Amino acid sequence: MSERVIQWATGNQGVEAIRACATRSDLELVGGWVSSAAKEGLDLGEIAGIAPIGVTATQDIDALLGLGADCVIYTPRIASLDHVCRILASGANVVTTAFLFHPPSLPVADQARLEEACRVGCSSVHGTGLNPGVLSGALPLVLSGMSRQVDRVTLQERADWSFYESTHITFDNMRFGRPAAEVTEEASEFLHFNSGIFKEMIALVANALGAELDEITTSVELVDATEDHDIFGTILSAGTVAGQRWCWRGIRAGEVLVEIETLWTVGGEYPAHWPRPLDGWTLTIEGDPSFRTHTMALASFERPEPIAEHVRAASIATVMAAVNAITDVCAAPPGIATMADLPLIRATSGFVRPA
Ligand SMILES: NC(=O)c1ccc[n+]([C@@H]2O[C@H](COP(=O)([O-])OP(=O)(O)OC[C@H]3O[C@@H](n4cnc5c(N)ncnc54)[C@H](OP(=O)(O)O)[C@@H]3O)[C@@H](O)[C@H]2O)c1
Repeated sequence: MSERVIQWATGNQGVEAIRACATRSDLELVGGWVSSAAKEGLDLGEIAGIAPIGVTATQDIDALLGLGADCVIYTPRIASLDHVCRILASGANVVTTAFLFHPPSLPVADQARLEEACRVGCSSVHGTGLNPGVLSGALPLVLSGMSRQVDRVTLQERADWSFYESTHITFDNMRFGRPAAEVTEEASEFLHFNSGIFKEMIALVANALGAELDEITTSVELVDATEDHDIFGTILSAGTVAGQRWCWRGIRAGEVLVEIETLWTVGGEYPAHWPRPLDGWTLTIEGDPSFRTHTMALASFERPEPIAEHVRAASIATVMAAVNAITDVCAAPPGIATMADLPLIRATSGFVRPA
């Protein structure tokens, strides 16, 4: 039996999800939502750079929800709780990489709306991805399964956003290239939202491991560019923000139990005083015993590939965490299904080669 799926937004991740669904016998792509009017009516295969699949993109939400799909892969640049609640109430499940990683951390009214939509539609919602996602959620929980005691969980992410071909996210959402005063949670609705989704990951891991945190704190250190940088045609000017070191900490009795730190730069403006882990994600569990694992998502460790393909690997990994969860999310009891609730998500068709 195959699940009937809608792809919601066809950006970096959306096109990778379309390519994945097109090769899967357990997933049938039946619809696609686009934000851009220019893509309305185009075949989803064409948008994804593969052969046409006979399904056209639309901006008509009612028509999409009328398809009676089993699941929506929800990956827009700006997440909308209104849209997700409409989808859930219509009876379709939702897997998303954009938000809802630990809905019990949301404001009570938002959580109640989400749960009501799931109840009405008899549907489930699951937030996942790379980070926030598997590397800050499922992976620490898997490693904790080999622990006698966990004292502290730390995830460090180091990335140069110069290679991420979404200048809207880099400049508009994340505010690289702005004066420092504009790059705070208080100054930006998106940065406040973004901080919230990382705090959700702290809460997910802490709750799953019984940490009973007192608080989750946020700090950010900003770095100004020493020179101009051309990022996919957009200029980041000297003196504007080229580095953001965010740190979210889950604290109990003054002790940091769970921490996520992001070392994000643009244009290689990496300050000398920042720690120097490898690019990618370093997860450390201090405990009995202690573990450290470093993850890189590349196109290949064996084949030579252009840098753009290595960069694309992160979008593939992010959205595949959602695509591979579809069957389990559809089978889950109605309601919120976090990474701590679902069975271990795997690539069930991982070794199957497309014909
Ligand atoms: N969890 C993780 O690990 C992780 C990692 C990276 C990114 N993300 C998040 O995943 C999502 C997808 O990332 P991406 O790299 O695919 O993004 P992207 O390529 O920048 O954009 C995704 C698509 O969103 C649609 N869009 C544009 N403006 C919009 C608006 N104002 N409101 C709603 N939708 C709009 C467009 O769809 P059309 O082209 O179809 O019109 C665009 O192509 C984002 O929310 C991003 O923040 C998560």
